[in-house]
Amino acid sequence: METKEIALEELDADKFIAEKIEDISSNVGNGLAINALSGGVDSSVVTILGHKALGNRFKTYFIDNALMREGEPQYIVSIFKDLGVTVELIDAEEIFFKALKGLTDPEEKREAITRSFYKDVFAQLVEETGARYLFHGTNYTDVEETVAGIKRQHNILEQLGIDPEKMYGYKVIEPLIQLRKSAIRKVAKSIGLPEELYNRPPFPGPALATRVIGEVTPERVRILRDATKTVEEELSNSGAFQYLAILHDDKVTGIREGKRDYGLQIEVRCWESTDAKIGSPTRLSWDVLDQLADRLTTEVPGVVSVTYNITKKPPSTIEAI
Ligand code: XMP
Repeated sequence: METKEIALEELDADKFIAEKIEDISSNVGNGLAINALSGGVDSSVVTILGHKALGNRFKTYFIDNALMREGEPQYIVSIFKDLGVTVELIDAEEIFFKALKGLTDPEEKREAITRSFYKDVFAQLVEETGARYLFHGTNYTDVEETVAGIKRQHNILEQLGIDPEKMYGYKVIEPLIQLRKSAIRKVAKSIGLPEELYNRPPFPGPALATRVIGEVTPERVRILRDATKTVEEELSNSGAFQYLAILHDDKVTGIREGKRDYGLQIEVRCWESTDAKIGSPTRLSWDVLDQLADRLTTEVPGVVSVTYNITKKPPSTIEAI
């Protein structure tokens, strides 16, 4: 069935929430359902919707794929604890790095993450819990970009011809599939999520892997995690839609302590956008860019070059892979 967008202007958030709670209750009946919370606004809304509709028949997990930002899993679990929702943290580091080993092609990396997530981690959780439904925060832009062949979003299955029930033994329910990011934020506010969650910049499900060009190894993720922390500290007041660091695959010649240093390149991106569908680079001041270059080359070991992406989306995309 074709998915029809509900645009921000036509969305009545309270009505949408009430309808979704009703849909979920009638679809799941007396069954058990689970979801994965990433801390992004999409999965956060799904978590609250599921809990409101199903109470303790809905279980939420945070899959720590080891590709997250520093301290992220614990931070998100604690916010939800304050909201009265228990989130179980699952350590899946080994599964993800094993699946990503040796891969450099962007779509192959995305495919490996999808497979690890749905087949290796979730199929097992479904089996352990007896759940028959997996809730997912898929949004309208995810569907559109996957169907158009731009990027395989990690959470899109049916649109790629994958039948999760046949392949993995559970049904996928996607309550936000008709909404874009700005509309999801409106629902998040109405459903009672704190502003620190609904006003967070988007963060992709495959996490830092979308920002590592080339092989995703524990060491390369560690470097990018440090760079991400610096970029987020510097740009959190920029008011931009999204800002990120990217680790390049190729090294470049630099100088350190008067000697040649063949080192790493970090690319910074900072986006103006409302829905992630199109975007343009924020016109950051030279002082901000200067400060970014200084901090990244001194605080992140091995970095000798920092660039700022000045391309619009399209032809760029927001993430690097
Ligand atoms: P791109 O890079 O396609 O990103 O311009 C558009 C928006 O989607 C986010 N993004 C993802 N979100 N799973 C997600 O949940 C993904 O696989 C994924 N890839 C990109 C990206 O951060 C941006 O906000």
